Amino acid sequence: MNNFVYHVPTKVYFGENQLCHLGEELKKYGKKVLLTYGGGSIKKSGLYDAVMAEMKGAGMEVFELSGIEPNPRVDSVRKGAQMCKEHGIDVLLAVGGGSTLDATKWMAAGACVDHDVWDFFSKWSPVEKALPVITVLTLSATGSEMDCGGVISNPETKDKLGRMVAPLLPKVSFLDPTLTYSVGKYQTACGAADMFSHILEAYFTTEKDLYMLDTFMEGMMRTIVKYTPVALEKPDDYEARANLMWTSSWAINGFVAGGKRHAWSCHPMEHELSAIYDITHGLGLAIVTPRWMRYCLDESTVDKFVQFGVNVFGIDATLPPFEIAEKGIQALENFFFQTIGLDDTFTKIGIGREHFAVMAKKACNNKGGVIKGLKTLTPADVEKIFEMCL
Ligand code: NZQ
Ligand code: ZN
Repeated sequence: MNNFVYHVPTKVYFGENQLCHLGEELKKYGKKVLLTYGGGSIKKSGLYDAVMAEMKGAGMEVFELSGIEPNPRVDSVRKGAQMCKEHGIDVLLAVGGGSTLDATKWMAAGACVDHDVWDFFSKWSPVEKALPVITVLTLSATGSEMDCGGVISNPETKDKLGRMVAPLLPKVSFLDPTLTYSVGKYQTACGAADMFSHILEAYFTTEKDLYMLDTFMEGMMRTIVKYTPVALEKPDDYEARANLMWTSSWAINGFVAGGKRHAWSCHPMEHELSAIYDITHGLGLAIVTPRWMRYCLDESTVDKFVQFGVNVFGIDATLPPFEIAEKGIQALENFFFQTIGLDDTFTKIGIGREHFAVMAKKACNNKGGVIKGLKTLTPADVEKIFEMCL
């Protein structure tokens, strides 16, 4: 295994009623706060009022930016960065799902530079610093609450691009599972598929693994399989929501990679789908992931598929390896498409083959011409995987 540095200094307040610490945390970073949120779910749930009361109680001067879109647009980021500069914002408070958190992180970075925020993606401009970001998470999925990533869409160029850079790591995150009670069935299921995929992208690599981390990942996958149906059936089941929330954070906060090259394969493919069709990230991943697995299954990878099938889905370990592998993939498909009810093909969600060539090329270009994952994928391979999704 490779050496690695693990440094994730996000302070996490986990559990019900932890929001009472929000004011004291915000105050540490200054007086002027930019509150960011999405399309209004936080107003419906009453969270907006609770957050406002905390901020007022701490004597903060509050500025607001609402309307951050799912698959957040670069224009929202531009607006936020501009507001930070105009009002001399000290700290940003993102309240919402991954889209709000991601956009806010890039506003915080954009506030510290003179150039357009899209240059961070189109020109790979350096991210040397960012204003402090505090998050209140309302949807378990992306792990943005505890990672240094952020993904932004540019409708003009039809790009959806992400980067992971240390200054974007939230200073503090509030993870209260009760705030996810109001998340509907569809977003709950998409969130589960997203975190599952984050784990798989680290689990299925060609590098030698740490047994301890593999076991940890298998435990997290079993947690998603166990608790997502519970949360769908009973949205206010605290245990289910809490298990999903903490899994979302640990699936992508750097821990599971443990020195391995974290070779993202399904994510670059999915980001092209979201970029063109504006679909929900987790839905795209659910459709692509089992096809990618089947495409990568061969003599050189079968052992890992056996491990997955046996340890995650309890497939009979005495069966022949390829049979176990196929049953493992089928079990994952059953979970995504039957148990948690996501659509299983591109056709069902209105995606045809019209943009396959462009999307495949872009998915690989952003990775230097090929996707170097479990199997090295050229644009032609990616097109074949897309075909399998129709
Ligand atoms: O906008 P509001 O009104 O808040 O409604 C949202 C939105 O419509 C709603 N929602 C959120 N919390 C809710 C709620 N509805 C009811 N009750 C609540 N408690 O859910 C909808 C989707 O929200 P969004 O933030 O878009 O979802 P998610 O958390 O799945 O974020 C997806 C974005 O994150 C990116 C994705 O690509 C996508 O753009 N990702 C970010 C990553 C990262 N930072 O590391 C990694 C991921 O792989 C991913 O790419
Ligand atoms: Zn994801």
